[in-house]
Amino acid sequence: SGAREQMWLSLLSGLCLRLVLPCSAEEGLEFPNFDGKDRVLDITERNYKKALKRYDLLCLFYHEPVPANKGLQKRFQMTELVLELTAQVLENKDIGFGMVDAQKDAKVARKLGLEEVGSLYVFKDDRVIEFDGELSSDTLVEFLLDVLEDPVEMINSAMELRAFERMEEDIRLIGYFKGEDSYYKAFQEASERFQPYIKFFATFDKSVAKHLSLKMNEVNFYEPFMEEPAILPGRPLSEMDIVEFVNQHRRATLRKLRAENMFETWEDDMDGIHIVAFAEEEDPDGYEFLEILKDVARDNTNNPELSIVWIDPDDFPLLTTYWEKTFKLDLFRPQIGVVNVTDADSVWLDMSNDEDLPTPEELEDWIEDVLSGRVNTEDDDESADDREHPDSYVTEDSSESHDPDEEEDSDD
Ligand SMILES: *[C@@H]1O[C@H](CO)[C@@H](O)[C@H](O)[C@H]1NC(C)=O
Repeated sequence: SGAREQMWLSLLSGLCLRLVLPCSAEEGLEFPNFDGKDRVLDITERNYKKALKRYDLLCLFYHEPVPANKGLQKRFQMTELVLELTAQVLENKDIGFGMVDAQKDAKVARKLGLEEVGSLYVFKDDRVIEFDGELSSDTLVEFLLDVLEDPVEMINSAMELRAFERMEEDIRLIGYFKGEDSYYKAFQEASERFQPYIKFFATFDKSVAKHLSLKMNEVNFYEPFMEEPAILPGRPLSEMDIVEFVNQHRRATLRKLRAENMFETWEDDMDGIHIVAFAEEEDPDGYEFLEILKDVARDNTNNPELSIVWIDPDDFPLLTTYWEKTFKLDLFRPQIGVVNVTDADSVWLDMSNDEDLPTPEELEDWIEDVLSGRVNTEDDDESADDREHPDSYVTEDSSESHDPDEEEDSDD
């Protein structure tokens, strides 16, 4: 979609800057520059099987045919550069990188099961993991290192336990088992299906289990920002029991947008809309607002219809101006609104005249209005169709009283 294209473009232009920055003369802080060595393979029918066999991980970018247009070619080369730089940084890991052309290599793509052009697929053992995040070297390196790890992390000490308890932004599962040769195996098999997006932990330690009130062969599921975990029903659990539970519960009431799976989150909308909250955690207002949001999420955790996407603008510096323009917002303040994912039309809760942030009750009322459709992105659209009457526009919008679609086009 157009929005996705635009996001990629702005992300890529940030990368470009990074690449041409000169290195400092002092040692100890040196961003990698692409050294010019080709590491990314051109995957064809002749070499794909060998590549699959040779590496622990094989990371393939499935792309449209290289365009004839110069500008588009540049864009393609920048994507290639992201992969080259990632390959260079991870050179001492056993990871292969390759490009698969949707036209030239259609047969290979079919054999490998690549479906979505513009996506990146990671092959590990007999699994395929789709990367649906920001295509930047930073994000990709982090993602691939996560995929290289074991899918289950062991918790053996009080220190590890504290670290586990602080990970409130993540979906986490933890199970207590007798040892490697036990029902742990089913848990491990299940974990592989969600790596690296959902974190799996296990303990064989009695005191850790006691601290978490875990019984033998029990598995707990922690939804982000919730204080109490849910206990998976039944003991012992089969792989499918766990997989099904996770699939049913993975859309959290409050979830943070992250570079590593931002497109996946965005595509998982609620009947065409998202409730989006912008809040900078490091800003006092943002922090306060986030605490209110967490309260509301905890109160409504059993409402399957509700999922609020929290975006910390600090995590997406390259997208901030795009969002401010698209949603006509000031992102230095906390904001919450409804976004239609088809056309990015949006309405935002008016918090501008208030000294105070909304109370949890006020926020809950507003969310109820959104879920019932009383607050929606369509009601104010009438005036936009009625172009003969410029009076119906508020002054600040008067310069944009043309078709909003036109505006989108002129940006390209
Ligand atoms: C989102 O926008 C599209 C296109 O303008 C419209 O057809 C659709 O009804 C809207 N969806 C919602 C849930 O408002």
